[in-house]
Amino acid sequence: SAEPTAPAKRVLLAAPRGYCAGVDRAVVTVEKALDLYGPPVYVRKQIVHNKHVVTTLEKRGAIFVDETDEVPEGATVIFSAHGVAPSVHQEAQTRRLKTIDATCPLVTKVHREAKRFASDEFDILLIGHEGHEEVVGTSGEAPENITLVQGPEHVDEVEVRDPDKVVWLSQTTLSVDETMETVRRLRERFPNLQDPPSDDICYATQNRQLAVKQMAPKTDLMIVVGSRNSSNSVRLVEVAIEHGARAGHLVDYADEIDESWLDGVATVGVTSGASVPEVLVRDVLDYLARRGYQDVEAVTAAEESLLFALPTDLRRDLKARD
Ligand code: F3S
Repeated sequence: SAEPTAPAKRVLLAAPRGYCAGVDRAVVTVEKALDLYGPPVYVRKQIVHNKHVVTTLEKRGAIFVDETDEVPEGATVIFSAHGVAPSVHQEAQTRRLKTIDATCPLVTKVHREAKRFASDEFDILLIGHEGHEEVVGTSGEAPENITLVQGPEHVDEVEVRDPDKVVWLSQTTLSVDETMETVRRLRERFPNLQDPPSDDICYATQNRQLAVKQMAPKTDLMIVVGSRNSSNSVRLVEVAIEHGARAGHLVDYADEIDESWLDGVATVGVTSGASVPEVLVRDVLDYLARRGYQDVEAVTAAEESLLFALPTDLRRDLKARD
């Protein structure tokens, strides 16, 4: 009889992974602004939640600040993909800043929903993570009407004015399954709870989770490339573990991989969050190939082709130059 052999080493590579349309647009916005206006260009908050993207743009002359009051009067400031509260636009105007808004159009859509339901005097239950920039921005559209619900375990704490006039909205980068569980429990308490007019969890978040769900049961180790403060990246590790990956880790760079994670591992799953440049995934694949994981198989859960036009103000200035 044949000798027992160790199972062959292989990589399952998720598709889609990496950049979504909103991140691509936001990063290109900063690059084009640097070309057009020359450095420095100020950016309020990290343009997208990725360490490599931020350090690369810093080297080219972008200055990342926490608040608009750190931007010199009259200078140009870009708002990040996560969106800002209306008060931030007002502050910028008061300081006579030139603003370019790189808020993802899919976040802007949630802002519009919040405004509309608030003007119809709904209580809005916003499912999301406290302190995340997107949640801060969306909440700022209707602070009187919005209550943050951090997850299923917080549903019992929720108080509303009129249980028959309640709608839920959400952050764009949550776990789809956990959010549905939160909604299910909210609906137990508020049977007339209204759904958002369309999905708030964006296509990119959904598709990246879908691919991970398909791979996870076959995966001994899932490596997710992404930064710790990237909500959608962190969710990918959680989704992998929930769906059967035996281990899962988030890394910014290939050199953060610990050799010992590979002990006894046949199948490594690889994916990346929506703010992650593909070059960082290539580095991880190279690292794995050097350790015998040369065989790479794609797991494709969806095709993506969405592209967003650049922010209007930037487009106008680019046109004026040409
Ligand atoms: Fe927009 Fe979704 Fe990307 S909300 S920035 S498309 S992760």
